Amino acid sequence: MINTQPAASAALSQDELKTRVGQAALQYVVAGQILGVGSGSTVNKFIDALASVRDQIKGAVSSSIASTERLQALGIEVFDSNQVERLSVYVDGADEIDHQGNMIKGGGAALTREKIVAAQSAKFVCIVDQSKLVQTLGRYPVPVEVIPMAVQRLVRQFASIGAQARVRLQDGQPLVTDNGQVILDVAGLRIWNPRAFESEVSQWPGVVTVGVFAFQQAQVCLMATASGVKTMNFY
Ligand code: 5RP
Repeated sequence: MINTQPAASAALSQDELKTRVGQAALQYVVAGQILGVGSGSTVNKFIDALASVRDQIKGAVSSSIASTERLQALGIEVFDSNQVERLSVYVDGADEIDHQGNMIKGGGAALTREKIVAAQSAKFVCIVDQSKLVQTLGRYPVPVEVIPMAVQRLVRQFASIGAQARVRLQDGQPLVTDNGQVILDVAGLRIWNPRAFESEVSQWPGVVTVGVFAFQQAQVCLMATASGVKTMNFY
């Protein structure tokens, strides 16, 4: 293991908290191996920290085009997920995480590739600041990647369970994911049973990936707080 432990501090900005937790995740990087790398602003801090140990790792499997470009710009080799059978560690952020390690992900629209890389990894290390910790998932609208022709039918299907689904826009147009699909952001949910919810919605025709990660849950959460980076282990 490569060990780098940031010091505790008070009154840090959210950006500084992300930097601290990104650096703290270096302790889970295994020398000589290929690492799974997620997406988002917190992961960007981790990628930046990874540059300092780039000569000690073989490379990375990335969950988005944006992360791939950032890794490559720092001289870190990126492997296709099909080239690698098993990863020992996957480091990624989350939009919400509960006290059991279940997460909502997809705020950066990379949820499908994130779930794929998480599924081929033995350990999911989630890096967040303390604002992401919740008792029950659902405060953050759940991202769902869907096939465009199913959008309106899925909007109605979510309405039938009391939720409001909206197509995510970018510059006034539906955002198109790295996989050529679109995102529904689903508000009004209280997810009491994350596995049951993920199982059910994953079967709705037209759904590519639901942004609830209960089957690919975190084994470890590194959470940046004003008093330092705390570690939560889930079993
Ligand atoms: C991208 C993700 C991100 O991990 C999630 O949105 C958290 O992002 P950030 O670190 O920017 O808050 O799931 O699809």
